[in-house]
Amino acid sequence: MPNASPLSVADIAAALGALAPRFDVDVLAECDSTNARLLERAEAGAPAGTVIVAERQTAGRGRLGRVWFSAPGDSLTFSLLWRFPHGTSLGGLSLAVGVVLVETVAALGLRDVAVKWPNDVLRDGRKLAGVLIELVPGAHTAAVIGIGLNLRLPATLPEDLIRQTAAIDNHLPRSELLARLLAALHAVLTAFASGGFDALRQRWLARCAHLEQAVRVVSQFAMPVEGRCIGVDADGALLVETPAGIQRILSGDVSLRLP
Ligand code: BTN
Repeated sequence: MPNASPLSVADIAAALGALAPRFDVDVLAECDSTNARLLERAEAGAPAGTVIVAERQTAGRGRLGRVWFSAPGDSLTFSLLWRFPHGTSLGGLSLAVGVVLVETVAALGLRDVAVKWPNDVLRDGRKLAGVLIELVPGAHTAAVIGIGLNLRLPATLPEDLIRQTAAIDNHLPRSELLARLLAALHAVLTAFASGGFDALRQRWLARCAHLEQAVRVVSQFAMPVEGRCIGVDADGALLVETPAGIQRILSGDVSLRLP
């Protein structure tokens, strides 16, 4: 059965090769949320590179207080703790993680994959993966990076979600996929630590779903903004050109503006 291969710490370490000592991976059969569990361990002093991957989450967390649904075996749900040098600005970190995801799935041969600001990965315009970054309280340069990647569309998905959701549908064993993602995260987070998001900005723009398109950005805290998406700045803020000038947007949901 595609993608239902069991997650195994030994297989993940073997696939990581020389990078294996940089990670401490824990595979859980079930937990509420890998982000919640890892935040707890981070506060207790867990080192950078600690990873929790769960076969099943009972209370997966999404952006903006949303719930993240995933069925066992149909997705890869994991969190990685990363500790950045003191003083590192974490602006744009979720976009940097988007670069890892989109480039990794593109390398598997998936076509029409793109990043959607701020931190979704799309396949054929439907959501393939999401990222939720939570800062470790009291340690402002430590972040728990939570990733949910759809491997297969579950049969039981609600009707509205089926239309909006995509999956990898690839036979790569999940342990191998996780190892590839961790290796790519290691490289990108190292680049981020020294150069910030600016070091990755062109790679993000090369995969941007909405660049030069008419968009509408809706946010909980401000009036909707409509205009032309002209990119992102060095901190990962979305830049939208409107009749009133260029708007710099820090939070919201982007959609294509239909004529
Ligand atoms: C989003 O697009 O809203 C972000 C979804 C992030 C989901 C992942 S699954 C693993 C990790 N643990 C969580 O509780 N959430 C993230």
